[in-house]
Amino acid sequence: MALSLGKAACILTGASRGFGRSLALLLAPRLETGSVLIPVARSQGGLAELEAELRSSFPSLKVHSVQADLSTEDGLQLVLRAVQDKLPGAADLERLLVINNAGSLGDISKSFLDCPSPAEVNSYFAFNVTSALCHHILHPEGLPGAPWLVQDCRPFKSWTLYCTGKASRDMMFQVLALENPGVRVLSYAPGHLDTEMQQLARTKSADPEMREQFLRMKQSGQLLDCSVSAQKLVTLLLQDTFASGAHIDFYEL
Ligand SMILES: NC(=O)c1ccc[n+]([C@@H]2O[C@H](COP(=O)([O-])OP(=O)(O)OC[C@H]3O[C@@H](n4cnc5c(N)ncnc54)[C@H](OP(=O)(O)O)[C@@H]3O)[C@@H](O)[C@H]2O)c1
Repeated sequence: MALSLGKAACILTGASRGFGRSLALLLAPRLETGSVLIPVARSQGGLAELEAELRSSFPSLKVHSVQADLSTEDGLQLVLRAVQDKLPGAADLERLLVINNAGSLGDISKSFLDCPSPAEVNSYFAFNVTSALCHHILHPEGLPGAPWLVQDCRPFKSWTLYCTGKASRDMMFQVLALENPGVRVLSYAPGHLDTEMQQLARTKSADPEMREQFLRMKQSGQLLDCSVSAQKLVTLLLQDTFASGAHIDFYEL
């Protein structure tokens, strides 16, 4: 297994908290001197805290946070501009990592038949599908790309938007892998994580069995610490033996 991911540029969405934050801290020591990390999220506080921690622990890493709402065209443009501005020496980098980790549950308080309005669906997809699609255009010419995303594709009662969005992303990334043998693509399902998203899952899901199931997991200590799952993802990236386009689940490893 390689010890490092080389001199890389890494765009990591949803880095202000939860899985993305843990992943940033575990990836940083695996990036060689001169590497650039671009954490993306909406909340300035979470990004500033992460950036300070990364700068003090890994001074050779260049960190440029981007505060952006990925559900908007303006937000996507901010990320694109940051990539263009901060990666001028792209030819000198060995690898580009695009980690599409940011995601949301959408309105899980309704069943399929109380379906959300078309505007709600479009807004959910703009963030959870379109923004991940747009990241593919970010990789500068001539730089080996390697996008990864975090997701979970099983159907859950009352999670119509979430499950549909994740399934779309899965297929989107399979097409990317098929079309581009030079790009390494991995869909990683991180397991049940003890994050804000899980808190919403156990309190807001319309289906009472779902609420109970997630509550039981929390109370019996079955939810994963983000760093445990993030470490497994980092190991997968270092080993680099996965089939491009594969979907790998934390619980299968
Ligand atoms: N938690 C689980 O059990 C679980 C299970 C399977 C898969 N996953 C997947 O793992 C990923 C991370 O989950 P998590 O549990 O860490 O979620 P989380 O705690 O809710 O964190 C979500 C991250 O996405 C960012 N984000 C949300 N809306 C955004 C927007 N419009 N624009 C930009 N950034 C936005 C948030 O930052 P800001 O609020 O600062 O923008 C935050 O950094 C998600 O894709 C999720 O679907 C999670």
